[in-house]
Amino acid sequence: MISPLSLVDKLRANGTLSRSEFACLIEGRNPQVAERLFERAQEVRHRVYGKDIFLRGLIEFTNHCKNDCLYCGIRKSNLEADRYRLSLKEILSCCEQGYELGFRTFVLQGGEDPHYTDDRMVEIVKAIKNGYPDCAITLSLGERSRESYRRLFAAGAERYLLRHETRNEAHYAKLHPANMSLRARLDCLQNLMDIGYQVGCGFMVGSPGQTTDCLVDDLLFIKEFKPHMVGIGPFIAHKDTPFANEPSGALELTVFLLGILRLIDPKLLLPATTALGTISPTGREKGVMAGANVIMPNLSPVGVRNKYLLYDNKICTGDEAAECRFCIQRRMRDIGYDIAVTRGDYAGLTGEARQAI
Ligand code: SAM
Ligand code: FES
Repeated sequence: MISPLSLVDKLRANGTLSRSEFACLIEGRNPQVAERLFERAQEVRHRVYGKDIFLRGLIEFTNHCKNDCLYCGIRKSNLEADRYRLSLKEILSCCEQGYELGFRTFVLQGGEDPHYTDDRMVEIVKAIKNGYPDCAITLSLGERSRESYRRLFAAGAERYLLRHETRNEAHYAKLHPANMSLRARLDCLQNLMDIGYQVGCGFMVGSPGQTTDCLVDDLLFIKEFKPHMVGIGPFIAHKDTPFANEPSGALELTVFLLGILRLIDPKLLLPATTALGTISPTGREKGVMAGANVIMPNLSPVGVRNKYLLYDNKICTGDEAAECRFCIQRRMRDIGYDIAVTRGDYAGLTGEARQAI
């Protein structure tokens, strides 16, 4: 059997491993294996993206949600959640502030909120595009119809984040109510890809019921689906959900998986997530050292920050956008990285593809 150390080199050379090899790499990990993995991950990342870190300004514009995912603090059954929606004017004011701070991507994220019909979302996307034509708009609005995705793309949104959450059917059913299905989620992801979005999928690390097999399913799915972005972060319990007493995902496993993802596709846009920064004060730095190249500071108005609580103890809920922006810059400089004032597109996009979006 090949040792986990040699599996790192094999993954670096081939961009993939067999099912049993991925399992062996994950289960056989230790500090020495992690060191080799992170070295290789940094090598390939520096080759593609240099020392640049791309910023995305996250605008959490609604915490209303019609879904009831068992892990999520803004699930509809959580009657303790203090619900809010941002108006178009408030969203544009977040963009204005973000633009001044050097953000060239805005991420509109929210619960699945029927208030934001296609017409309303198209209006928002067009207004941002109109005001900031040199910026990319990323949407993260959950599952919508193919036609809805098509209209939003035509209005000017170029990227879409929709975590698949887990590629294992039985595990998906443990995390979601019966009216949600993995099939529906995968169909949405395929629709987004077909329409021409830069697409991000992803999963939580250490969510209840997750096994090594589930993680291997995720990695093989990502290899096959070829997303442009992959968002992974540790699961963290929220006190008012059915998973309130479940343990959090581990920092060490999350960063190990970031390293693997970087070797699966050296061009991936890979965020060091807020959840990673929440389980450890230097989690985002460790994520970057493992191969991540994106950070998504919060641009939401401070007044609503502590209402978009997906999990307990979320960081940066009291900080102004500017504080987070410069805090991140300082943190990145300290570990030898630079914030790039660019849209930060996926490196594989050709000139024509870039023009088309
Ligand atoms: N409604 C959109 C969707 O479903 O894609 C966007 C918002 S959703 C709250 C964003 C992501 O937060 C989810 O994809 C999930 O992976 C993550 N999340 C939710 N609850 C979490 C928790 N307790 N710990 C860590 N991440 C969580
Ligand atoms: Fe928000 Fe550091 S990123 S305070």
